[in-house]
Amino acid sequence: MNICRTVEELNSAIESVKLQHKTIGLVPTMGALHDGHKSLFIRARKENDVFVSSVFVNPIQFNNKEDFEKYPRDEQKDLAVLEECGCDIAFVPKAEDVYQQEPKEFHFGKLEEVMEGKQRPGHFSGVANIVSRLFLWTKADRAYFGEKDYQQIAIIKDMIRQENINIEIVPCPIYRDEDGLATSSRNQRLSKEARLIAPKIHQILEKSFLQKDSLSFNQITRFVEDEFAKVKEFQLEYFIIVDDTTLQPIHTRENNQGVVGCVAVWLDGVRLIDIQRYY
Ligand code: PAF
Repeated sequence: MNICRTVEELNSAIESVKLQHKTIGLVPTMGALHDGHKSLFIRARKENDVFVSSVFVNPIQFNNKEDFEKYPRDEQKDLAVLEECGCDIAFVPKAEDVYQQEPKEFHFGKLEEVMEGKQRPGHFSGVANIVSRLFLWTKADRAYFGEKDYQQIAIIKDMIRQENINIEIVPCPIYRDEDGLATSSRNQRLSKEARLIAPKIHQILEKSFLQKDSLSFNQITRFVEDEFAKVKEFQLEYFIIVDDTTLQPIHTRENNQGVVGCVAVWLDGVRLIDIQRYY
């Protein structure tokens, strides 16, 4: 595995791949790699000649300083995981190098007026800055993202349209631990007791799925809110049912193609997100 620590090193590694006309699959990460990441690595490895991954805790996508500082970091472990998963090029840059050129301000209109965009001002502009740079530097043909960060995928698709970047975005299903908890680097920060409660997030969403034919979307929303309220350790930030493409809230069943419920909930000082498809 070639470990590139600067954009210059990455450029020269990519140049030699491109000379051989090989396809490149990219998995951008912020490290603290877990089984969810591994499921993305396996796909990127299988579907491309060359598999590139990046490990970079992007400071400008955190709107909360404490969250940035507490974000788990273990470079040696991450590099070992990448190597084990057949990564060809690992890009591990420093912020000074990534942001030699000042970040620009991205806007995503209605797409960012809901959920994470609403709760975390500036977050998606920060994500778009790092992801657009990674796309341009790696010249990847495909990039893989987990569907847990559902809104992020919609934002990235809009970003490549705005920036005219030619790349295929591959959304990948959520990877869950055996008890149903969606894998996340933040899970590491849960206490033992909280970790036992966390799977209830998925359980509540699954229960709501079973009601989808008998309840309206407003009733499903109330049902989910009530179920979260029953578990005193949870503080629900939002649960919202949206169109799976426009991400706009849905209240009635008319003409709905894809419908997805998105949740953000606090547990033990950790903010967890998850989704449930209804159609
Ligand atoms: O999903 C993440 O881990 C991050 O938002 C990403 C896409 C690696 C950008 O920093």
